[in-house]
Amino acid sequence: MSAKLIAVLPGDGIGPEIMAEAVKVLQALDLDLQLETAPVGGAAYEASGHPLPDTTLNLAKKADAVLFGAVGDWKYDKLERALRPEQAILGLRKHLGLFANFRPALCYEQLTHASSLKPELVAGLDILILRELTGDIYFGTPRGRRTAVDGHFPGAEEAFDTMRYSRPEIERIAHLAFQAARKRRGKVTSVDKANVLETSQLWKDVVTEVHQQYADVQLDHMYVDNAAMQLVKAPKAFDVIVTGNLFGDILSDEAAMLTGSIGMLPSASLDKNGKGLYEPSHGSAPDIAGKGVANPLATILSAAMMLRYTLNQPAQADRIEAAVQAVLAQGLRTGDIWSEGTTKVGTREMGDAVVGMIKTTP
Ligand code: NAI
Ligand code: MG
Repeated sequence: MSAKLIAVLPGDGIGPEIMAEAVKVLQALDLDLQLETAPVGGAAYEASGHPLPDTTLNLAKKADAVLFGAVGDWKYDKLERALRPEQAILGLRKHLGLFANFRPALCYEQLTHASSLKPELVAGLDILILRELTGDIYFGTPRGRRTAVDGHFPGAEEAFDTMRYSRPEIERIAHLAFQAARKRRGKVTSVDKANVLETSQLWKDVVTEVHQQYADVQLDHMYVDNAAMQLVKAPKAFDVIVTGNLFGDILSDEAAMLTGSIGMLPSASLDKNGKGLYEPSHGSAPDIAGKGVANPLATILSAAMMLRYTLNQPAQADRIEAAVQAVLAQGLRTGDIWSEGTTKVGTREMGDAVVGMIKTTP
């Protein structure tokens, strides 16, 4: 097998610091990987005048997978929209056709205190939110502003968006949900608002049809308002949640808070061939950039997701995840997850500890 090409895009703020640790972890595994680094976001704007230069985009297109740090800084707030660092991640999603966003919410035993819920509700929590990322009301047309000709206030200024989903868009995300559930606890909850919305009715019909090919997986349907309640009432009742772009945006942030620590949360965005972009769920944290205190675990765990979902190396992904658990069990903590009685460490020490654990366990 020839080496797999990984585009490494550190970005801004804490991006380079956390990426350095994830790269160390990947290099500690016995894998044939070719890691190629390129600038993105504000760093790329400084170097070339554009947040997503062609050379970076072409590397991302050519690569088998993309490992992304974070982009953005307040100092770019005054730039015109097209040149802002955040355009880089939007551009990558669009150009790579990344329609499936996987966001696991996992509550490590040692960190249950960090959750805003009671420890018994979140201890052992392991759910996966699968959000459709390129359709729905965020991209639906027509949209705009106009003068109302009907409705409650004819003649008034009004704005409108369009919620849209096509059958193939729903089919492809449904397949991924059932396939993911198969590798987990075998349960999918499809979230919609089918009692009110036309798009949701199609969503529900199509997910139900696709389910016929996955008889070994259990499927439930839930309205989004109820799902928002159940996520804080009994989150462990879920396994895989699959939903559209708008509902997924909100529910995935809600689920993230159940685990209490943004520095721990990885994510994956996949295209139709299983190629993906992997990144921590947090941003560039300019407030702590350059201080060596950022938590690198979300990025390290994103690298593990890359091995599992795109590079077909589940055993190596397990190794990283087990090493992270073991380091937490030893009591090592970066500032964001620190609590009384544990040992505070910096970004590099945390990365070194994970590497050390990988090297000493087969
Ligand atoms: P943020 O996630 O960067 O930071 C929120 C808070 O969490 C801050 O107090 C930060 O110090 C802390 N934090 C984040 N990651 C951490 C880590 N690994 N370890 C320890 N603490 C951590 O979100 P914020 O402040 O809203 O945005 C900062 C910049 O990041 C903005 O320019 C924003 O546009 C950008 N951003 C970029 C994203 C991306 O690259 N995909 C996603 C979200 C925000
Ligand atoms: Mg959001």
